Amino acid sequence: MSSDFYETSPALAQYLILHYGPVEWQLPSSACSPESADFPVRCVQEGFRWEELPPHPTALELGCAVGRSCFEFSRRCRRVVGLDLSQTFLQSARLLQKTGSIRCPIPLEGDQLVEREFSVPAGVCPERIEFRVGDALSSLFEECFDLVLSANLLDRVPDPTALLDRLPALLHPGGQLLLTSPFSWLPEHTPRDHWLLPGSQRVDSLLLPHFTLLRRWDLSLVLREHPRKFQWCLPEVTLWRRNED
Ligand SMILES: C[S@@+](CC[C@H](N)C(=O)[O-])C[C@H]1O[C@@H](n2cnc3c(N)ncnc32)[C@H](O)[C@@H]1O
Repeated sequence: MSSDFYETSPALAQYLILHYGPVEWQLPSSACSPESADFPVRCVQEGFRWEELPPHPTALELGCAVGRSCFEFSRRCRRVVGLDLSQTFLQSARLLQKTGSIRCPIPLEGDQLVEREFSVPAGVCPERIEFRVGDALSSLFEECFDLVLSANLLDRVPDPTALLDRLPALLHPGGQLLLTSPFSWLPEHTPRDHWLLPGSQRVDSLLLPHFTLLRRWDLSLVLREHPRKFQWCLPEVTLWRRNED
């Protein structure tokens, strides 16, 4: 998988299915329990301790892909910023934001494709979201947030330590960070000498000076390549509260 994989049509189809596809497109029902469906929705709905946050919080998602978690944040947040490096993904996220749906070909078998429609769910507030193309390692933000989500981005950036180092400055004291990663280190995304091994322990040691760890668990997801080929991933999820300075 090259680093511009996220600009390709197969990647767009995979992530539209993961973020907006009905369960029967996301998972092979014969092999997977429906609990592995809707990963971006579960991160937002089940990942944070909403009752400990201010009533109308603000949220930032780093590596938002085609944007489903941002739409989920918009149900409860007054402002949501979704950042991703992929122009292709953010073009689709913005079209979903503007029109509520998008049509995209998804792989069937060999070079056969079938066009499918993907829609944003009811009850979301698209006008609260700002989708930005940018690099999570260097983009500047004029504000701090109450919530930050970074799902499966850590092992896709060239310098994961730099990503972790900038997180404290993005959150208000008391704000919550949800970090998920399968720690799938690959040289095409991250030079070998920047891998964090073992991922879980290295993340803890970099975050603990600034955050309190609230919870650690596993949250599975399934990426569909075609109707008979799926990638099952088991990211580790950690929920953190930003300490007072
Ligand atoms: C493995 S995907 C995860 C997408 C989404 N968070 C999810 O869990 O479904 C990684 C995402 O990070 C984006 N990405 C990779 N490097 C990035 C960077 N330096 N800054 C921002 N986004 C980046 C990719 O374009 C892709 O959308």
